Amino acid sequence: MSKTLIAYFSRTGEQYSVGNITKGNTAIVAEIIAEKTGGDLFEIKVVNDNYPNEYTPLIQFAKKEKQENARPEIIGEVSNIEDYDTVFIGYPNWWAEMPMPVYTFLEKYNLSSKKVYKFCTHEGSGGVHADDFALYGHIAQNDRQQAEKKVSEWIDNI
Ligand SMILES: Cc1cc2nc3c(=O)[nH]c(=O)nc-3n(C[C@H](O)[C@H](O)[C@H](O)COP(=O)(O)O)c2cc1C
Repeated sequence: MSKTLIAYFSRTGEQYSVGNITKGNTAIVAEIIAEKTGGDLFEIKVVNDNYPNEYTPLIQFAKKEKQENARPEIIGEVSNIEDYDTVFIGYPNWWAEMPMPVYTFLEKYNLSSKKVYKFCTHEGSGGVHADDFALYGHIAQNDRQQAEKKVSEWIDNI
């Protein structure tokens, strides 16, 4: 039987163009994907969470982490990763890249035999490869109907 995992990284606090949020933009998209696919959610969270809650310090922090090519340790494990044949990887675009904890995740699990799809939220530079998905963060945050429509179109396509 086909089983789907949706692993994602997402932040609350102050985010670009949406103010102070209590649910991350990418988290919202991840939940919509879970609803559409019946998949299981796994949030990629770091053990030592020192990410600032304000936007400007956060972008500086993330820039440094990227420059250092850091691999922050992440919390917990996906139980029975071998059971999943489809894996969605979700993240906010950070400096035109995936946040470093997503690399920690990807290096931890061997996904080579699985179908892997990526999705991101962003605020202007959402460039993704064919079969992947990008959505403006503020649409995820503020326009549930449009977010659901876009996710549905994508899922139906793949
Ligand atoms: C550290 C940082 C770097 C970012 N870099 C980009 C970028 O390069 N391009 C872009 O379009 N948006 C960028 N953004 C905006 C986020 O991708 C966008 O707000 C996203 O929806 C946040 O998702 P989240 O709430 O799930 O964390 C950046 C935001 C942060 C905090």
